[in-house]
Amino acid sequence: MQKDVHEAELQNLLTAYVVTGLLFMLLPGTFLGVWNLISISSERGLSSLSAAWIQAHGHAQIFGWIGTFIIGIGYYSLSKMGTIAPFAVSRGWLSWLLWTCGVLLRWVANISLWNWRILLPVSAAAELAAFLIFFFTVSRHRSSGAGRTIEVWMGLVIASTVGFLILLLMNAAVATRLALAGETPVFPHGFDQRFLVLATWGFPVLAVWGFNARWLPAFLGLKPASRGSLLAGLVLCGSGVIAALSGNFRIASAFLIVASVTVTLALNIFERAQQPPQLQGVHPAFPAFFRLCYAWLLVAAILSAWAATADQNGGIWGASRHALTVGFLAGMIFAIGPRILPAFCGGRQLFSPALMFAACSLLNLGCLLRVSSEIPAYEGFAQAAWHVLPYSAVIELIAVSLFALNLALTLARPAAPLSDSRLYTISFSQGPKQI
Ligand code: HEM
Repeated sequence: MQKDVHEAELQNLLTAYVVTGLLFMLLPGTFLGVWNLISISSERGLSSLSAAWIQAHGHAQIFGWIGTFIIGIGYYSLSKMGTIAPFAVSRGWLSWLLWTCGVLLRWVANISLWNWRILLPVSAAAELAAFLIFFFTVSRHRSSGAGRTIEVWMGLVIASTVGFLILLLMNAAVATRLALAGETPVFPHGFDQRFLVLATWGFPVLAVWGFNARWLPAFLGLKPASRGSLLAGLVLCGSGVIAALSGNFRIASAFLIVASVTVTLALNIFERAQQPPQLQGVHPAFPAFFRLCYAWLLVAAILSAWAATADQNGGIWGASRHALTVGFLAGMIFAIGPRILPAFCGGRQLFSPALMFAACSLLNLGCLLRVSSEIPAYEGFAQAAWHVLPYSAVIELIAVSLFALNLALTLARPAAPLSDSRLYTISFSQGPKQI
């Protein structure tokens, strides 16, 4: 009985994180991104747009969408693995409140500039406090897991969590410095470029690799990941992030390319499956979308090397960043979200596999148009490419809206009885096969 109550409370908590992440993704994130891209295209250049608005979009997507999903899934899934003792779910709610307010305040500060000297550091402090509650909950409450060896996939998730913490500490330090002595809430360009490498490769990419190593053998029927190569991938990616933070982007991109290839091989992404994939309510094209994400990862890494040597107007960096954030990260969430989130949020079934297919296809199409036209447009190689960019933005907006609609309609369905929904969730402690 006690267990049922805790399970139901955890499911409600995760649902709140998922809905909040979707809202950040839609309005402050994607809608603003589309608006920005249309303005940039009509002015034929990045310099015409307020850097505060660009950073507001980036912050809403990385912290507001991806960060919110990762914290919510982290609370839920780690409590399922028996590595942390049952915790008071009220702690998860406190971190949700602080996190949501923090991300929202940052967006308001950047967009309106209203009282930004106060809002900026308050937002950073709230985000940090929310994360610290999460961090101490999942790191100090070891119970049955104490003494167990840490598997490599878990090592990747832990590294990602540490990356997230460092990111938030840097964010708080710079926000405070700007509030005291800056002229605007905009992070200086040089610092922002380094910060963004940590915000992408140093945290969500590592989390995805870790959870993929855990889930792919079951979901796609792939051979289990090679532990040594995964560990090598982690070290290489960490070295790339450290090189970028110290300003050596060429060295960083070389590390990131090798890391991406190593992890893709380690996870056997492009190998033939050994068993049929476990689709359970998602579209049969799920494995193909999954593999496309890893193609985007490799494109992003290769473009970062080109950007480090030849970028003049932000076009190659922008293309590399969006190959990673839209093609790899958003593509991954669009593929795997419908597979796991309905099950975790109360043992539900996905509302529509067809909507999932449409969202994933349009996202990939929008990303392809964006990445292929951003470089010629921004870098001045082909003026005609400016005409393609607004279409890419609108296609991505439709994709994102379909994804959100599908999940919202799924969550609006009645939950399975707790005895059934536990079948979906308890499997974290026993291996992923029953998810
Ligand atoms: C869905 C459609 C999207 C559109 C139309 C869009 C548009 C833009 C635009 C116009 C910029 C300015 C720089 C540039 O032109 O490259 C930008 C920057 C950025 N975007 Fe996006 N974006 C989208 C999705 C995403 C997603 C899904 C993420 C992350 C998950 C993301 C993360 C970022 C980041 C981190 C920056 C850099 C912010 C900075 O300079 O600090 N974007 N985006």
